[in-house]
Amino acid sequence: MNVLLFGATGMVGQGVLRECLLDRDVDRVISIVRNPSPNKHPKLREILHPDFHDFSALESDCRNLDACFFCLGVTSAGMTEADYRRITYDVTLAAAGKLAQWNPGMTFIYVSGTGTDSSEKGRTMWARVKGATENALLRLPFKAAYMFRPGAIQPLHGIQSKTRWYRVLYAITRPLLPLLRVAIPDQITTTEQLGRAMLRVAKEGFSKPVLETRDINAAASQPVR
Ligand SMILES: NC(=O)c1ccc[n+]([C@@H]2O[C@H](COP(=O)([O-])OP(=O)(O)OC[C@H]3O[C@@H](n4cnc5c(N)ncnc54)[C@H](OP(=O)(O)O)[C@@H]3O)[C@@H](O)[C@H]2O)c1
Repeated sequence: MNVLLFGATGMVGQGVLRECLLDRDVDRVISIVRNPSPNKHPKLREILHPDFHDFSALESDCRNLDACFFCLGVTSAGMTEADYRRITYDVTLAAAGKLAQWNPGMTFIYVSGTGTDSSEKGRTMWARVKGATENALLRLPFKAAYMFRPGAIQPLHGIQSKTRWYRVLYAITRPLLPLLRVAIPDQITTTEQLGRAMLRVAKEGFSKPVLETRDINAAASQPVR
């Protein structure tokens, strides 16, 4: 399986990259980044791309791909709706629109978040914008598209968020998270489970297009067919 990855330098993307590189069914990972990362692996090819609003120059690099794991995203804290939409909606659709043209056999997986507003009309700005992004992705002519809506994510294997206040939050809650995963397993996932679930869903599909945390954890724990 040939995988394209966005957001590999972030917390979610690092976790997904780790699982992809460990998976024997994954032959190749292409990671599109705006700054070079320290990641090195024989299966990994990193492409530096300066303009995340225009991917047309990457056509020859982005054909014959089986799956795209889109883990790029920002927190809406302190952002206007227009600025948040420019990254969340515009960047995602700039990439996905081209990928659907170039790879009609592709499975596209997008990381949104719990509480995403599919009506696009609710009062919470980030949820409306993520909802609009999900809806637009689901209309594109991919083989399949899945929306992952994790709640809290426990970073494992030394992975850290790029967002400072997330790092502070995770440092404070680190001792609690393993306990909470036992007490409320349907609300918490890990970077490892997210990566495994993406690979499982890309290989085998899933019964519905929108996966909440409990679905993500279930997909991650299914035995290999
Ligand atoms: N962390 C959580 O607990 C959590 C929970 C639910 C949902 N999510 C969602 O998961 C997604 C990823 O979150 P995360 O925690 O991994 O975030 P993160 O650690 O802050 O990483 C963000 C990633 O997006 C890239 N990025 C951000 N703005 C960009 C831009 N303008 N152009 C190109 N690349 C850009 C970053 O690249 P650079 O390295 O170049 O900055 C980085 O790879 C987000 O959509 C978030 O809403 C996260």
